[in-house]
Amino acid sequence: MAASLKKADIYKDMTMRHTKDTKKVLVENTAVEATALAAEIFKTTICEAVDARGECALALAGGTTPHALYQQLAETAASGEVPWESVEVYFGDERDVPHDNVESNYLMIQRNLLDHVPVQPGKVHPMPADAEDLATAADQYEKMIRANVVSGTDGLPQFDLVLLGMGGDGHTASLFAGTDAVDQTDKLVKACFVPVLGRSRMTLTFPLINAARNVLLLVTGADKAEAVAKLLSEDPAARQDLPAGHIDPKGNFIVVLDAPAARVTRPRTELD
Ligand code: 6PG
Repeated sequence: MAASLKKADIYKDMTMRHTKDTKKVLVENTAVEATALAAEIFKTTICEAVDARGECALALAGGTTPHALYQQLAETAASGEVPWESVEVYFGDERDVPHDNVESNYLMIQRNLLDHVPVQPGKVHPMPADAEDLATAADQYEKMIRANVVSGTDGLPQFDLVLLGMGGDGHTASLFAGTDAVDQTDKLVKACFVPVLGRSRMTLTFPLINAARNVLLLVTGADKAEAVAKLLSEDPAARQDLPAGHIDPKGNFIVVLDAPAARVTRPRTELD
């Protein structure tokens, strides 16, 4: 109890200091515990955003890691502890399939979270990654974000929270090594063919991700340990080929790991 209380205190302290751009790595023994901690961070961040600004703009991750996180958040609906009616939902990336396709990140998030919490339908913005003209669709999604998400002092839309996962190859969102999406400095949303997948993806780019008040990266499983070690390496050269190494938000950057994902490295408690 004392240990978990301590962790919660660490996070509350970080949240209270979010104006001081806190960057932390938090490691839990198991994926279940890491997911529970990520859920606490997620809920606290939404509550803090709504308390401070009356709304919360989220960008959500796909893949498999966040399934359990979304399910835990769905369980909060009954408690009323999260002001979901003040949350606006965007997507960090999407596959080139319709939103009713089993591979769709939107469908996964809808089934595990959105069908269970009172987010207003007009405040959910699926990413059109199955459009005929992907480049135009990406530009339109960017235009919608610029119109709806309040910008920070740098003039970029500032999400309150961007949730990310990471692949074993170090990709995050759909920012894969070798694609021109990774090095984008102008476009905030990009669609591109991903050779390693043989498919197209649409994704937020790093300028938009890094403009966020809070970035939460949840990584679990031994298969991610090598990529985590590179991400947390003291040596910047180790990170340069890792797409996730480009995550460098002005605000909070909180990495939540389970022990297997952290086994190759002893994460520092501060990310430089
Ligand atoms: C996707 C995700 C992707 C994911 C990583 C990790 O569309 O697959 O957005 O970026 O976060 O690939 O995936 P897992 O959580 O499935 O390991």
